[in-house]
Amino acid sequence: MPRPTPRSAPASRPAISRRSLLRAAGLTAVSGGALVSTGCSTPENVRPGSVRLPIADIPAGGGTIIQDSNYVVTNPAANQYRAFDRHCPHAGCLVSDVRDREIVCACHGSHFSVEDGSVLRGPAASGLAEAPLTQDGDSVVVGG
Ligand code: FES
Repeated sequence: MPRPTPRSAPASRPAISRRSLLRAAGLTAVSGGALVSTGCSTPENVRPGSVRLPIADIPAGGGTIIQDSNYVVTNPAANQYRAFDRHCPHAGCLVSDVRDREIVCACHGSHFSVEDGSVLRGPAASGLAEAPLTQDGDSVVVGG
């Protein structure tokens, strides 16, 4: 007598791989586990340990946290892009927000400049470490 397999997918539902699902959602998993929106990017050009982000996803005059990564990317002026390590130098929390041209650490309230990562408000005593960033067409590649 065959046993039922309660965790198997019904025969009428096609199997979808993780990769297919991510592509359908416009996301690519890059080394390090980060998920970034890719648009029509070519992940083959991404350095190991780095993430690719469309420039269109970086607000002018502000920046964006790359979720599930160690990086925040900023656009302080036209065609200027900077990347910083998200680890706050105060106690190591990950900075979590960019607003009003400032990168914010919610743990104890430090604020950092989107222009150079310097401290605007403590308790952090030093700024965010800059991360490698290269522009590649309509994307930036950060880290690696
Ligand atoms: S860890 Fe960021 S302010 Fe304390």
